[in-house]
Amino acid sequence: MMNVTAKELIDGGPGLSVGVLTADLLRLGEELGALDEAGVAIAHVDVMDGVFCPQTTVGPPIVKALPDRFVKDVHLMIDEPLEKVQAYLDAGAGIVTFHVESTIHPHRVLQRLAGSGVVRGVALNPGTPVAAVEPLLDELELVLVLAVNPGWGGQSFIPATEHKLAAARELIHDREIVLAVDGGITKANVEHVASLGVDLIVTGSAVYDGKAPAGNARAMLEAVGRARTGASA
Ligand code: DX5
Ligand code: ZN
Repeated sequence: MMNVTAKELIDGGPGLSVGVLTADLLRLGEELGALDEAGVAIAHVDVMDGVFCPQTTVGPPIVKALPDRFVKDVHLMIDEPLEKVQAYLDAGAGIVTFHVESTIHPHRVLQRLAGSGVVRGVALNPGTPVAAVEPLLDELELVLVLAVNPGWGGQSFIPATEHKLAAARELIHDREIVLAVDGGITKANVEHVASLGVDLIVTGSAVYDGKAPAGNARAMLEAVGRARTGASA
């Protein structure tokens, strides 16, 4: 398993985590070669259970099957994650993020994950105010702001997310917490999103578009790099 710390993600950021759901899952091994070619080291897996959100996707076996050279970034869009997180730790997750809306015991889920070596993340749906994570800040290492409603890849970035990212940044203040954003990030807006004070950017269908994943990933990394150095194209 490939581990990463919040500090490494923050110091090296903004970084790119690529969602594999729209890759050809029957050829996932080959498809991941595109990330190697482009130099992307974080693979994002969208786990949906058909209860918390409408679609059902994948679970621990796919996370386990992902090669250990990647940081396995597991985004749980599942109901009541408390008893389910252990299977993802066992599958070698490097980051485990669950939704604050998915349980009445988010603090307890974070306690369950403590000491596992995983980066503990809490995600917020577009309709949830950032204040929902305020009581959890001493127990988490990552806040994931969803820029789309969870369910599918390929949706449009909700503009109000910009304001929300600013509010999340203010809430995090000087704590060692990764600010991440997920949904609707494309080649056209990634440079702008990277300039919004985020540490980690999740992108899915803009890379795995069925055409040129390596080229797409490279283009997005370059755009993020431009935002990092402030050298706008
Ligand atoms: C939203 C998921 C996202 C999504 C990203 O349900 O959490 O990770 O798959 O896909 P794009 O980048 O296509 O919006
Ligand atoms: Zn996701």
